[in-house]
Amino acid sequence: MIGRLNHVAIAVRDIEAASGIYRSTLGAQVSAPEALPEHGVTVVFITLPNTKIELLEPLGVDSPIAKFLEKNPDGGIHHLCYEVDDIEQARDQLLSKGARVLGSGEPKIGAHGKPVLFLHPKDFLGSLVELEQA
Ligand code: CO
Repeated sequence: MIGRLNHVAIAVRDIEAASGIYRSTLGAQVSAPEALPEHGVTVVFITLPNTKIELLEPLGVDSPIAKFLEKNPDGGIHHLCYEVDDIEQARDQLLSKGARVLGSGEPKIGAHGKPVLFLHPKDFLGSLVELEQA
């Protein structure tokens, strides 16, 4: 069902400083920051030849990554994003196998303007999984 690795997301406290590490130290191409109030984060994308890295900084008071950063004050890998062809079909298949979908269960529009869903980390080896319709 899952296809390409779309991105690996890293939660950070300071997206400007984090972008500088990827841009200057690692020599990668880093996008301009984009605020996503519906997701409670500001994001940048780092484009690599075979995938992307997403840096996430908390936005607003109820950011879903605030607690993660309390536990991981230096930042850390937050989720993996896999592509699927049809997100509703993938969701229904996962639900039928007992996996839990976070939130309302309805896809939201993600950072690439495409529908996304998140799956419970307890069902996937302790890793938060994002699905994005390719
Ligand atoms: Co993501």
